[in-house]
Amino acid sequence: MTDATAPQTPQPGLEPGPARKMRVAAVGDLHVGETSERPYRDLFERVSDDANVLCLCGDLTNYGKTPEVERLLEDLKLCTIPMVGVLGNHEHECGQPQEVERMLTDAGVRMLNGEAYEIDGVGFAGGKGFVGGFGRYMLSSFGEASIKRFVQEAVEDANLLENSIRKLRTERSVVLLHYAPVVETVTGEPPEIHAFLGSSRLAETIDRYDNVSLVVHGHAHRGGPEGRTNRGVPVYNVALPVLKTLGDTPYRVFEI
Ligand SMILES: [Fe+2]
Ligand SMILES: [Fe+2]
Repeated sequence: MTDATAPQTPQPGLEPGPARKMRVAAVGDLHVGETSERPYRDLFERVSDDANVLCLCGDLTNYGKTPEVERLLEDLKLCTIPMVGVLGNHEHECGQPQEVERMLTDAGVRMLNGEAYEIDGVGFAGGKGFVGGFGRYMLSSFGEASIKRFVQEAVEDANLLENSIRKLRTERSVVLLHYAPVVETVTGEPPEIHAFLGSSRLAETIDRYDNVSLVVHGHAHRGGPEGRTNRGVPVYNVALPVLKTLGDTPYRVFEI
């Protein structure tokens, strides 16, 4: 136990006490294919020197095939910092999302699907999320049973997110999603598909908690890079194609 009344001597290179910032890197939509040749070796090596934690925001593979995940893991094993992640819709395409999640978990990625993790005093919560649209145009549970089932799926995904955030007792927390929680970060995509890129239900869930400092997501390859929830929580689209429009760094780093 340390004496809180004694003068504190900061360690070299570290800010003192609770104000110490964490460098959180984030990227999504790597879309590793079966024939990819170690495409992200540099990314995982570089980010390990540049950040304290790496957030992986889904669509890490093209179809969720086992050989694709194996290709990804060849590069991912070069990452030496803690990793947290969510699956994307592409990990579901082959019908074995649980197997993809198991392989990533075995490789050391803390997968968020109703779970939450605390790393050095910062909380990490999240989930894949789902579609449904934004604001007043969000699809509501009305009419055909098939529409109601579709909306129920969106509600269940938002509930999973809520269960994850609720587990955290940290003052600073990061939420990872694959789908977008706000329309700003899908703007740039054709308006006709905005409703398939995310849902305000996710932002409404996030805004019920005042310890969320940052939201990162992927999926909208041609969306905008930044937005905010109604309560003002910053939201970043870290899909790799979006990051490529911002510069040469294949991930984005946030200090929280
Ligand atoms: Fe994607
Ligand atoms: Fe996606």
